[in-house]
Amino acid sequence: MEIVKLNVNGVVRETPVENNWTLLRALREGLGLTGTKCGCETGDCGACMVIIDGEAVRSCLVRAVKLEGKEIRTIEGVGDGEHLSPIQEAFIEAGAVQCGFCIPGMIMSAKALLDRNPNPTEDEVRTAIDHNLCRCTGYENIVKAILLAAEKLGKERYDG
Ligand code: FES
Ligand code: FES
Repeated sequence: MEIVKLNVNGVVRETPVENNWTLLRALREGLGLTGTKCGCETGDCGACMVIIDGEAVRSCLVRAVKLEGKEIRTIEGVGDGEHLSPIQEAFIEAGAVQCGFCIPGMIMSAKALLDRNPNPTEDEVRTAIDHNLCRCTGYENIVKAILLAAEKLGKERYDG
């Protein structure tokens, strides 16, 4: 094991990892951040999506030891359990959550999109969640939720 320093949700924390551990494993087993879900571990499902330096990244595809100095954001850094982010509110309001397993990853993809493009088209939303699989919803309400989130965030900015 070696110690890696990871900047997660604005806090630098140390955790022991094996050299070949993925970020997904370091988050869940090292740091106890289990909001990031483990689906396939082969890059196919998107349940493990996090944001690294502004980009949505499948955390099962990157090694933790390579990420010192990078800014990592996980679902725990989006809402705090008591106060939901506008994106999370929009998912609930649009009826986009069924079993919920894909949702943390969906929200991280949505956040990465909306951070760089506050007014996405429906096509841009669909492209942004290209790597996120959902077995329950058929995606329609998820797309609606992300467009609703864009509206909510826009209103928040307007209201100052
Ligand atoms: S667990 Fe990473 S893409 Fe499925
Ligand atoms: S809500 Fe069940 S997998 Fe998406």
